[in-house]
Formats: sequence, C-alpha cells, structure tokens
Amino acid sequence: MASKHVYLDYASTTPLDPRVFAVMKHFFSQKFGNPMSLHSFGKEAREAVEKSRKLAADFFGCEPGEIVFTSGATESNNLAVKGTAIAFASHSNKKSKPHLITTQFEHSCVLEASKKLEEQGMADVSYVSVGKDGLVTIDAIKKEIRDNTILVSVMYVNNEIGTIQPIKEIGKLIKKINAEREMKSLPKIIFHTDAVQAVNYLDCHVDNLGVDLLTASGHKIYGPKGVGILFVRKNTPIRRIQDGGGHEMGLRAGTLNVPGIVGFGAALELVENERKRNYKIVEKMQGYLISRLLKEIKGVKLNGSKIKRIPNNINLTVKDVEGEGMLLGLDMKGIAVSTGSACSAGDLRPSHVLTAIGIGEEESHGSLRVTLGKYTTKQEADYFLNSFKEVVARLRKIAGK
Ligand SMILES: Cc1ncc(COP(=O)(O)O)c(C=O)c1O
Repeated sequence: MASKHVYLDYASTTPLDPRVFAVMKHFFSQKFGNPMSLHSFGKEAREAVEKSRKLAADFFGCEPGEIVFTSGATESNNLAVKGTAIAFASHSNKKSKPHLITTQFEHSCVLEASKKLEEQGMADVSYVSVGKDGLVTIDAIKKEIRDNTILVSVMYVNNEIGTIQPIKEIGKLIKKINAEREMKSLPKIIFHTDAVQAVNYLDCHVDNLGVDLLTASGHKIYGPKGVGILFVRKNTPIRRIQDGGGHEMGLRAGTLNVPGIVGFGAALELVENERKRNYKIVEKMQGYLISRLLKEIKGVKLNGSKIKRIPNNINLTVKDVEGEGMLLGLDMKGIAVSTGSACSAGDLRPSHVLTAIGIGEEESHGSLRVTLGKYTTKQEADYFLNSFKEVVARLRKIAGK
C-alpha cells in the first residue's frame, strides 16, 4: 500500500465534508424518528427534512413542494424518464406511443431507462449524437422533435469529459415550441436535465435553465451517498415508479433517509456559500495541470471542449498506453483516478461517451479521467504530474514504444 493518498476522482464521488457530517450524525442516533410518525420523534425528523427541502428549494430557485427526495441520481433519472412515460400512458385517451429525446452520451441510468421503455413498447426514443467537442447542439435536438415528443432529457455536464451542455438554450427552444403546441392542443414537452456534475460549479436555478425536471445527487457535492433529488415543476405530468406509501407528494414511496436528506441540505448550503472560492481553486489547478500535461508528455490529448468545460475535469487520451495500466500504476503510488465512469469500472468495452464523440476503440483504451475537488492541493497536483510521467514512460518502455 502506498504511503501517500491523493484522491483525484471527485467526479466519481466526493468525501463527506466534516461540517455536513456534524449536522447529520444526530439523525442516526438520538433523532431517529420516522418523519411520517405523528409523535414528537416523528415531528423532530419531519422538521429536519422540511428544513432541508427548503434549503434545496432555495438552492434550485423553486418551491419546497417541488423537491422530491430519492435514493440517488440513478433513481431520480429513472423517475424522470419512466415516470413521464407512465403518466402519458395513463391518460386514457392517449393511444399513440410517446416519443422521448435524449443524447448518446447520457449517464447509463438515463440510457438504460430509455431502452427499457423501448423494449416494453412504451416509448420511441431518439438518441441525439454529440459533436467531437462533446457538445450537443440545439439544432440536433430541434431536428428530432415530433408531434408526440413528450420528454427531452439532456445532461447539464457530462460525467466523463466534463463538457457543459447548452441547457439554457435548449430550455428556451422548448419553451417556444410549447407555446406553439398549446395552440395545436399537442402535449407539452417536458424538459429534464441530469445536473449531477453541475451542482458544485454552475447556475442550477431551474427557471434560468428552463427545466421542468432536474436531477442532483448528494455524494457528488461533499454530501452523503444514497440520497438524491428530483426537482419536479408544479403541474408536470409524472407518475411514481415505485409503489407504496404516499411519501414525497405521492412521487416516491418509502421511508425517508433522514440523515441523508439532512446532509444533502447542509451540503447544498455549503456549495452555495463557497462556490466562487472552490471554482477558483479547481479552475486554477485544472489550467496548471492541462498545460503541463500537454507540454511535458508527448502523445497526450485533451478530450472534449476546452472552453465549455467544468473546471474540475481533465479527460485525456495517451498514445501507446492502456488506461488500465495508467490507473494501476498511479494507484500503486497512492493516486486515485479513473478510466471512465466508475459505474463501468471493470468493463473493458470502450466508454460510450468517448465513442459518442468519435474516439476510436484503440485510442479510447488509452483514456484517463482526472477530476479535481475543493481539497486538491498544488502539492498533490505536482505529485500526480511527476508520478504520471514516470508511469507513462515505464508503460511505454514495456510496450517497446
Ligand atoms: C451524470 C451522472 N448522473 C447520474 C449519476 C448516478 O448518481 P448516483 O450515484 O447518485 O445514483 C452519476 C454518478 O456517477 C452521474 O455522474
């Protein structure tokens, strides 16, 4: 085991901020009530959940009643995609199949939920292609819209390459189309964004974005794992996908994860208060690392737009080296990075994101994702750089390159 520990995989998960844990911990032990209970234990838990809901609503610029707590972004995205299709199907006079639009490089939970709807004959889905720069264009979305389109789901920031999608512009387009559709009595298009990787750094006010549904996850923002949010704009036609009690405005049955929800609220409050400072820290480090990596190691390429990019993401392909080899070599030096999304770790097929932006199979196998966070230091960045140079040189030597 290496004596150093340098964590550079913040897009995969983040450490819990100790200030968040300090708020959460009472809700595991002393304040353990079920928020649905009518006695004082329940009331105490309920008040804590509602406080968190209010913090989340302030963060996303919506009403508390529009925040649905879930078990994570995977569930929120499933609810967004399947829940809108189910709501459409349950309108008795809707005989036609609904049509959904998403992109080829969404997180697997959006892609798999969409494929499931297709398999079950519940929806037709268009998977919009992505440019080489890792950006979806408004025109590409516009082209796919049909009379029976009910949902457009586009991620705000891609989790592998960190590119920022034009969500505000897509929101404006959908608003304009919806105004025209109202006159033709066509169903309104619901606009969903998976904002998991955006929350730390970008404006996530739902009215600024023009979204009806927005997904967030606790563990990507120095909060706990196992808790997510789906913002659901009032009057959006959506049905729950999990049956049971009437929790969360009838949209998500199941006893609430009170410590998780409390932690999520506290984490959002910290993001809001410290965003500017944290943005600067990671942006500076990102610029420093990218310029040195490109300058000092030959055959290194940055994947995805350099400009429309989240400040903590560096996704590289390195010529003549396998991503797995780089990952393991760095791990032996105590450095944690990733080769694709963590959800597909161990899967040797090329990343669907890199494929979507036109990177070939061979090149894609030499990819590495380095993601920075608010605790990343200059010493860590330098240690990574030096170690990375050594690892790449060694692997190339072994491969005779
Ligand atoms: C963009 C994006 N969406 C969804 C998820 C799934 O989040 P969770 O772990 O909360 O289910 C992730 C996590 O990697 C992600 O990066």
